[in-house]
Amino acid sequence: MKIGLLGFGVVGRGVYEIVNARADMHIAKVLCLEDISLPDAEAVQDFKQILEDDSIDTVVEAMGGLHPAYEFVSAALDAGKNVVTSNKALVCTFYDQLLPLALEKGVLLRATAAVGGGIGWLSELERSRRVQAIREVGGIMNGTCNYILDNMTRLGLGYGEALKQAQSLGYAEANPSTDVDGIDTWHKVILSSNVAFGVSLEKDTVPVAGIANITAADVESFTVHGLVCKLISTGKRTEDGYSAYVQPTLVSAGSLEAAVPLNYNLITFLGESSEKMSFYGQGAGRYPTAYNVVQDLVDVLSGKGFYAPYGGKAAAKNDQAMAYYVRGGWDGAAAEDWGSGVVTEPVPVDAMHRWLKAHPQAFAAGIRE
Ligand code: HSE
Repeated sequence: MKIGLLGFGVVGRGVYEIVNARADMHIAKVLCLEDISLPDAEAVQDFKQILEDDSIDTVVEAMGGLHPAYEFVSAALDAGKNVVTSNKALVCTFYDQLLPLALEKGVLLRATAAVGGGIGWLSELERSRRVQAIREVGGIMNGTCNYILDNMTRLGLGYGEALKQAQSLGYAEANPSTDVDGIDTWHKVILSSNVAFGVSLEKDTVPVAGIANITAADVESFTVHGLVCKLISTGKRTEDGYSAYVQPTLVSAGSLEAAVPLNYNLITFLGESSEKMSFYGQGAGRYPTAYNVVQDLVDVLSGKGFYAPYGGKAAAKNDQAMAYYVRGGWDGAAAEDWGSGVVTEPVPVDAMHRWLKAHPQAFAAGIRE
């Protein structure tokens, strides 16, 4: 296998190191805008030098972002090259373009590191759906949010202080919105649901609420009531279709999710035969992410492409109701007053997310039964 590597940042360097220790694959060219020199590969600054090199059969995209990653990846697929990427935003946003293109061209596309970093989540979903229908996927898919919420819960930190720590450790981006507004988790649950259920979810039917408005007083109330707040994603088959959403969720202090520390991820599927199976590990970082990129390269060597067939478009409908903790202007029915906020009577998920959009200063967390 001869590889063209796009990007030489955190993930790209990790991939380079792991691949260089193997005999079955070789990184021939590295696209990097900086002037670098590498002992075993040619550094290039123009993607065409990879695209037009017929000896390169596989492209690894480790640049991140949507553009020009999309243009490069689609050009590579179009040119008959296999692609491995860790870019969840790319695969989620352009699912309906990239999958059909790979199928049409008869090339392989894999993105295991895109969800759960070093956890073999999408590859296990692929194995799982060979023998059973999957009913539900989801869990803690963003290490930055988990780090912030865990430090607020265990150390009593305020949101701003916990966020600053996450930034200083390099978990959160300088502009942390993708993490704390739940967008990263949203990409990951849409991708997971697409693979699990063999569909292409309509993205604008999957609501997302993040953690940016949570306060130390909220967390104190949760602790008093034996609850822990986590940013949880959900994707489900329902009687009449699919449900998918991302929201802060209050789980019992004794639950598996409550025990997930620091920036770890815990992702779970519920299968008809296997029942609940959970996967725990590092959802980000150079070597965990590069590890799964290289796993994908090994799978490409054995002819494995995408995890699931490309299914038809499907809308998520989130009409199931649950009680929410809400702070900030709730004028609906309340069952309890916790001082810092109220607990609502059951509210349909879609309705609560519409209310949150109209009340951008409010904070809400679904209460898991
Ligand atoms: N920013 C992400 C996280 C990185 O914190 O989990 C992996 O997608």
